[in-house]
Amino acid sequence: MLSVEGIDLFYGDAQALAGVSLTIPEGAITAIVGANGAGKSSLIRTIAGIECPRAGRITYRGQPVQGRPSHEICNLGIGQVAEGRQIFPTLSVLENLEVGSHLPRARRRKAASLAEVFGLFPRLAERKSQAAGTLSGGEQQMLAIGRCLMGRPELIMFDEPSLGLSPALVEQMFRIIERLNRENGLTVILVEQNVAASLQLAERAYVLETGRIVMSGSGAELLNDDRIRAAYMGI
Ligand SMILES: Nc1ncnc2c1ncn2[C@@H]1O[C@H](COP(=O)(O)OP(=O)(O)OP(=O)(O)O)[C@@H](O)[C@H]1O
Ligand SMILES: [Mg+2]
Repeated sequence: MLSVEGIDLFYGDAQALAGVSLTIPEGAITAIVGANGAGKSSLIRTIAGIECPRAGRITYRGQPVQGRPSHEICNLGIGQVAEGRQIFPTLSVLENLEVGSHLPRARRRKAASLAEVFGLFPRLAERKSQAAGTLSGGEQQMLAIGRCLMGRPELIMFDEPSLGLSPALVEQMFRIIERLNRENGLTVILVEQNVAASLQLAERAYVLETGRIVMSGSGAELLNDDRIRAAYMGI
């Protein structure tokens, strides 16, 4: 579905990604794990068209997408739930969701999308008139996911969705991602600090270290790899 080949990304003189290549199969959950500063968010932002790589190719359903503006990439069906949620705090829950359906691909299906999002997150329906900034952290994360879903993505990229949530909410967030994949048929790229849980969920995973892919395999293979266990799970 998505192919990333030989991506180099620089911030000024500092190289954040070096020769990064990966393939994202349709219908699967693919995890990208790595330590702080490894380049995970940079990779997501490059796929989303927010960062411009110096070299490499990104192909979505056979067409090159690198260099295209981010709204065009979103409109092809690549959605992202950014690190830190980035909702609009003074807008209501409903207004935040409506922002997500402004994409040309999603406009006509706004009512159906809203019904789906409220079905998935009944709490957002209860609070639809409330200012988004007054929601709890978990509710804000639901809103960020809901807003992305309003854009009708086929591939959805999550950047650390469990960050800052309580253990019970972290568990709920993983179940939601699993459900979006299994029931709604969404292809998922999952960036997580919660390495064990994300490898359990993922069919395939890549390990990013200082801007390079250093290992890849099935989620189960990496989960049982001694180096991964020592480096990321403290066991
Ligand atoms: N806008 C920026 N300008 C300059 N350097 C940046 C910028 N964003 C990220 N970097 C640097 O690029 C490298 C990769 O950062 P990135 O945020 O992609 O890592 P990450 O794996 O997402 O880390 P984290 O787990 O902390 O979210 C880091 O060294 C970081 O300091
Ligand atoms: Mg990050």
